[in-house]
Amino acid sequence: MSEELKRAREYEAEFGSRISAADRPLFHLSPYAGWMNDPNGFSFYRGKYHMFYQYYPYDSHWGPMHWGHAVSADLLHWEHLPAALAPDRPYDHDGCFSGSAVTAPDGRQMLMYTGVRKEVQPDGSIRDVQTQNLAFGDGIDYEKYDGNPVLTEDDLPEGGSRFDFRDPKMWPCEDGRWCMAAVNDHFGEGGEVLLYESRDLLHWTLMGPLVTNHNRIGLMWECPDLFSLDGYDVLLASAQDMLPKDFEYHNGNGTFYLLGHWDRVKGCFHTEVDHAADYGIDFYAPQTILTPDGRRVMIGWMQNWDTCNLHTSSVPWFGQMSLPRELSIRDGILYQQPLRELESLRKRNVVYRDVHLVDREIRLEGVQGRTLDMTLELEPDDESPLYHRFAIRFAKSEQYQTTVSFRPHESVLKIDRKFSGSRRAVIHQRRAKVRHRDGRLKLRLILDRFSCEVFVNDGEQVLSMVVSTDLSAQEVSFFAAGSMRFHVSAYELADEHPAAAEAGNSQQ
Ligand code: FRU
Repeated sequence: MSEELKRAREYEAEFGSRISAADRPLFHLSPYAGWMNDPNGFSFYRGKYHMFYQYYPYDSHWGPMHWGHAVSADLLHWEHLPAALAPDRPYDHDGCFSGSAVTAPDGRQMLMYTGVRKEVQPDGSIRDVQTQNLAFGDGIDYEKYDGNPVLTEDDLPEGGSRFDFRDPKMWPCEDGRWCMAAVNDHFGEGGEVLLYESRDLLHWTLMGPLVTNHNRIGLMWECPDLFSLDGYDVLLASAQDMLPKDFEYHNGNGTFYLLGHWDRVKGCFHTEVDHAADYGIDFYAPQTILTPDGRRVMIGWMQNWDTCNLHTSSVPWFGQMSLPRELSIRDGILYQQPLRELESLRKRNVVYRDVHLVDREIRLEGVQGRTLDMTLELEPDDESPLYHRFAIRFAKSEQYQTTVSFRPHESVLKIDRKFSGSRRAVIHQRRAKVRHRDGRLKLRLILDRFSCEVFVNDGEQVLSMVVSTDLSAQEVSFFAAGSMRFHVSAYELADEHPAAAEAGNSQQ
């Protein structure tokens, strides 16, 4: 084992175990110590789900990238394992960037990741050169392949850039072949997803560009994923530097999906529909997995590159993954539903039906806390004009609150964390255009201490945001401008999993 990896493992074992489970999310994965970004190598290996992640153990800010590692039986209770990769070779000296994992035919787990090496340019500037590399392991320890790098600038199409060539996502294809999608910055066109094939996982051949941005959605693309679902092929990728298009693609970085058909003979992707994958503030670089029981499950990084560097280094961990989301396609839309195993954390249930609200704010006894699974059904009051606004406020105290509000006249759902304790002039709100029938709307809110994910109309749209409000803010309230009624079913989420009682490196 290299000195760099040994040092990272020693450091995280010491500092990670000092972070109390009560100071982390209950069921969202957070880093063992320090900083986390993208999910990597999301896979099922030797009877467990494995999640690796972009990781810098020594600080809660981004630094030379390592791969952190955690395993889980149900995607909700995570056990931290020692760091899997450290930047310790000439070709990855400046970082082990994002990548994926598969089970090799000989039973070993194989990781493919982007190696980053800084290179001085003729004009004196320094740029990152990116190549693709392999490591083989047993689920805990990984050895980098002697033949690395396996893909370099020589494997790019004309117009490709060796400075932006990353994030390989592998999967098994037909007749024993392996496929891999990676992103590249194509000269003048922005992001491009490239497709590669291999018979032995060691030698990879460029099949061609699958989709080119032509500067339609942002500029460069990152972290692609391609899979078939419900009669479509789905391409997920995350775009940098987006310009908003009406209510799609908010300014900045965000994840989008293309629904269409992958022409396996010509090697290109025909897009029929494109949409944002999440309409909130914090969701990026997701990866999907096919679970052993056949569900396509997606997990993203629940953060935003434009707001993730505002905390001080005294924060012991930063960054968390989204809830695992089950994907399906209905009416040309990618639906996302909270992983059904979440129901196993449901404890006390409080139900209120036909709560009639007219121009006031109320609290409902038993509905409170920061770990909640709450379904709301909003309805107009048939006797009155259509209501103007409904709002649910949570993580609320005298000083703080975070709001999800709906204006039926404009069909706009808004999340707002302006009063969540932030002292920075950064994005605190996002709006989404939602479908409703005369003010009838269904919302499911999942709260996990420092986050809220809003699933609209059974997963037709999702809005995610982290909420860093102190955990003493526990109240929930409901508000209406105009006359309306709603039903609410709220479950407290709590953990009685045996791992919760264990000390040591278990997160819960
Ligand atoms: C996406 C990303 C990837 C890269 C990694 C670096 O968030 O920029 O493209 O591999 O993060 O940490």
